[in-house]
Amino acid sequence: MNAGQGERGRLIVIEGLDGAGTTTQAKRLVEYLNAQGKPAHLTREPSDGPIGKLIREMLTGGHAIAGEKIAQSTFGLLFAADRLDHMQREVEPALRAGTIVVSDRWYHSSLAYQGTGADRDWIATINARAHRPDITVFLKVRPEIAAKRRHDAGRVQELFEDMQMQQDVDAGYRATIAELIAAGERIDVLDGERMPDDVFAAILGAIA
Ligand SMILES: Nc1ncnc2c1ncn2[C@@H]1O[C@H](COP(=O)(O)OP(=O)(O)OP(=O)(O)O)[C@@H](O)[C@H]1O
Ligand SMILES: [Mg+2]
Repeated sequence: MNAGQGERGRLIVIEGLDGAGTTTQAKRLVEYLNAQGKPAHLTREPSDGPIGKLIREMLTGGHAIAGEKIAQSTFGLLFAADRLDHMQREVEPALRAGTIVVSDRWYHSSLAYQGTGADRDWIATINARAHRPDITVFLKVRPEIAAKRRHDAGRVQELFEDMQMQQDVDAGYRATIAELIAAGERIDVLDGERMPDDVFAAILGAIA
């Protein structure tokens, strides 16, 4: 290692269903690490870059196609492109500077969400160049509990339709996690149904 070249940062990913608490815990982790004097950067996917912005627009009904849903495979490609752009633009420079990067979602979300409508192997192929996290924490929350949290937080949903989709995504996460762990990836599955403080304590234990 060259003199003056510091240690590379680590990539920590927080994953889970919509309403699992990923945003709550990712924020809290970054605040904690910074308070401990360990420089940390909070980021998310879809990213805040140009492709991430386009994805957010499309997810909230923008650029709609009359009478049809935009294909999941299109979202799969956009998310994969956003991830490489996010890495180049934001994640890699932070890691090179020795900063810990905490990302609210990463390719596990693509595999779980788009791996149902499109083929999971194909989603894995188009994400093959994405950085493998040093550790991923999956917040395990039953789909009905996650739906209740979203409802209580005031997010209006078509409950039945949403439940069906969230159950598919839940199954997608289970398959994805098993495959990635078998491939040597470090993923800690934590009980996300406990109180936020308890979930956070478990995250600190996992990343220690
Ligand atoms: N451990 C917890 N127990 C109870 N409620 C929680 C817990 N964690 C988060 N919540 C609440 O659940 C709601 C969803 O949390 P949050 O936004 O962190 O989830 P999320 O996984 O980021 O969801 P999304 O994927 O929709 O962004 C919020 O109102 C939050 O305050
Ligand atoms: Mg969130």
